[in-house]
Amino acid sequence: MHANVVIIGSGIAALQLAKKLSSDLHVIIITKTEVTTSNSYLAQGGIAAAIADYDHPTKHYQDTLEAGRFHNNLEAVSLMTEEAPELINELLLEGCSFDRDASGHVKLGLEGAHSEKRIVHGGGDATGKTIIDFLQQQINHITLMENMTVYELMISDGRCIGVKAKESNGRSIQVFADHTVIATGGLGQIYSFTSNAETVTGDGLALAYRAGAQLADMEFVQFHPTLLNANGKGAGLVSEAVRGEGARLVTEDGTYIMEGVHPYKDLAPRHVVSQTIFDWMRRGHTIYLDISTIKHFESHFPTVASICEENGIHINSGKIPVVPGCHFLMGGIVTNLNGQTTIPNLYAIGEAACTGVHGANRLASNSLLEGLFFGKRLAAFINESQGEGNLFVRKGTNERITPSRSLLPDVTKLKKSMMERTGIVRTKENLKQQLDFLEGFAIEQWLEADLDSLSTEELNQVFMLISSWLVTKSAITRTESRGGHLRLDYPNEEKAWEKTQIIQYKKGGCVEQAEIALTT
Ligand code: SIN
Repeated sequence: MHANVVIIGSGIAALQLAKKLSSDLHVIIITKTEVTTSNSYLAQGGIAAAIADYDHPTKHYQDTLEAGRFHNNLEAVSLMTEEAPELINELLLEGCSFDRDASGHVKLGLEGAHSEKRIVHGGGDATGKTIIDFLQQQINHITLMENMTVYELMISDGRCIGVKAKESNGRSIQVFADHTVIATGGLGQIYSFTSNAETVTGDGLALAYRAGAQLADMEFVQFHPTLLNANGKGAGLVSEAVRGEGARLVTEDGTYIMEGVHPYKDLAPRHVVSQTIFDWMRRGHTIYLDISTIKHFESHFPTVASICEENGIHINSGKIPVVPGCHFLMGGIVTNLNGQTTIPNLYAIGEAACTGVHGANRLASNSLLEGLFFGKRLAAFINESQGEGNLFVRKGTNERITPSRSLLPDVTKLKKSMMERTGIVRTKENLKQQLDFLEGFAIEQWLEADLDSLSTEELNQVFMLISSWLVTKSAITRTESRGGHLRLDYPNEEKAWEKTQIIQYKKGGCVEQAEIALTT
């Protein structure tokens, strides 16, 4: 098969790209199961945008840097926060139904580490579903190939010329393309506790690494503080918006755990809240969200309410048991601001990419925004580069070795070991132990192996193994604690910024000021 653009993945970044690409391009989306199983579709939190009179993109910028512990790419953050109001406006004008207040204005919520109410939601806590359903209606002209696992990027003369993919019945196909885009999301499923969809096994990261693309910041994994704790299992997300509406984190006897920990208390940055919960749980406590002060919980948070019901948790008790779990990868495939990777004609957008926009920890509700923003930018880039570099010439791949299936990890053991040793709290000893464990599966073999004969289940195992190894290896190298990466043996943050600058700006007739970090 031939296409101008092949997009791997079907979350918000992929659909926004597809929508914005010129209609005379032949675009194929390949997705592992269905459009409705992506992380974007599950997203409960909304889209952060400084659209209120009291707000300004500069404040959004500053909150993003603070949450990212100043490890961010300043230009990426500045461009994205500036454009956020416009991206919301575009969707509104096209008819996307975001939630409104009684006077008809877009309703704005509060989430962790935001200094203002600026979160736009759809369907209460069903924002991802609202947007994905909306975008899907707008891309009827695109070829959508579901239940298809991409297992190899085809590289010729150092350029990406398309992908090899496998149908669920095991049949392989090749899709040649001028432009190949990885939009596969992160790697949540390498951990035993995760909010991520079951398909999110690090595929795009492993594909890119095997093909020789550069990856960065893989140690920065965000653990969301509040997954529903259903008898010791993470059973879906309890949105941060619940804390935004006043829920508080307490122990079994009602002790409030965020007092004195951070000025934002329950709405402190996620790594702070997750690490606090983890610490209390390690000391034998069960942690709950006290939701007793939230009126009309069920209509406000229909997704959370139904997850609770499915798991036998009665919200009428006013308490929801919670546990932290892997939520988001800040690192990924290195790209510039157009989504170009270090391999010509290969791009990455959304969570799979590392643009530096999130730094060492992502600010809540900046991920759907990232998808909209970089999907649109890449579309503009590809639309302008039409006709350039048509590479429909297959010259053969590099030598590959035949893999030994006995060297595939047991997925349950892999996930548990990642949670314990490369999880919320890390030490050199644990990371080293985990690295030895992972390298016992002959990583080098899996980086070179010919994957043609593997089943889709075995491909998942390979991608999870490679992704786990990348995170663990990166975590050993970072000898400091920063954002989502906490090293007990290196508890301090090495200061990455030299100075800050106070800037002033006008908003609604008033002069406001913000402190901007100048990174080195
Ligand atoms: C949430 O609803 O708590 C998640 C939002 C996000 O990760 O941005």
